[in-house]
Amino acid sequence: MQVCRTISQLQRALAALPRPLGFVPTMGYLHEGHLSLVRQARAENASVAVSIFVNPTQFGPQEDLARYPRDLARDRKLLAEAAVDLLFAPEAEEMYPPGFATWVEVKGLSEHLEGAFRPGHFRGVATVVTKLLNLFRPERAYFGEKDAQQLAIVRRLAADLNLGCTIVGLPTVREADGLALSSRNVYLSPEERQRAPLLYRSLKAGYDLWRQGERRTARIIDEVRRTLQAESKAFRVDYIALVDEETFQEMEFVERPARLLIAARLGRTRLIDNLPLK
Ligand code: PAJ
Repeated sequence: MQVCRTISQLQRALAALPRPLGFVPTMGYLHEGHLSLVRQARAENASVAVSIFVNPTQFGPQEDLARYPRDLARDRKLLAEAAVDLLFAPEAEEMYPPGFATWVEVKGLSEHLEGAFRPGHFRGVATVVTKLLNLFRPERAYFGEKDAQQLAIVRRLAADLNLGCTIVGLPTVREADGLALSSRNVYLSPEERQRAPLLYRSLKAGYDLWRQGERRTARIIDEVRRTLQAESKAFRVDYIALVDEETFQEMEFVERPARLLIAARLGRTRLIDNLPLK
């Protein structure tokens, strides 16, 4: 596996890679969720490239940029074992040199839910993903449904800016107890880690109600909230929402493919999760 730290190294390495190219952007501290994307990319393409970049522009001033977990040596080993051809791991100055002034904003999709609780977050995500897709020019790029709103935004920007790349979305990988894998799970204390799967179980209670035929959004959301609160007072909920799978607009009745989403804080850790209703 070739490791590139600069854009000029990257461009030389990319020119030598057989096509089609599958690309997996990450912020590192890799887990089975990331590796599921890498494996799918490996299965569908002649070459696979991964980026590891803790993108400063998608973190708010009060967020966890400084303490975001990092372990490049371990990540390199995991990616080499997964037969990745190229790893790009730039410094922040390489991606944002002095004078950087251009931003990508996806209107509508970016403003509510995660966008409302993390102002500027999706502008940072959309900008860095556009830069990465421009640099790699992959035939396919792989993203997780774990970050469902991010996935919808990436699909939108790739279409709107004619990036000529197929965006592939893959299901959330979970621990045996239902907790969605996340690099941020290392922040959880042992006691919080025990409580954390309740987030998934609450979503599942809403999902089960929908499976039984309930179509009123308010009832389904209520079921999620009640399940969470009945079992623990430890979570502070940012939002529970039920939205159209594509537009992320809230709906009164579930009549189209939809997604049930939750964001909550457990101690100092903010957790998000979601389930498709389909
Ligand atoms: P990061 O959180 O490292 O996630 C990289 C990719 O892995 C994203 O597409 C994310 O949705 C996916 N992923 C994370 N946890 C997953 C899980 N449990 N199951 C399946 N996929 C999972 O998302 C980002 O980085 C950044 O915002 C990025 C897109 C790299 C832009 O900076």
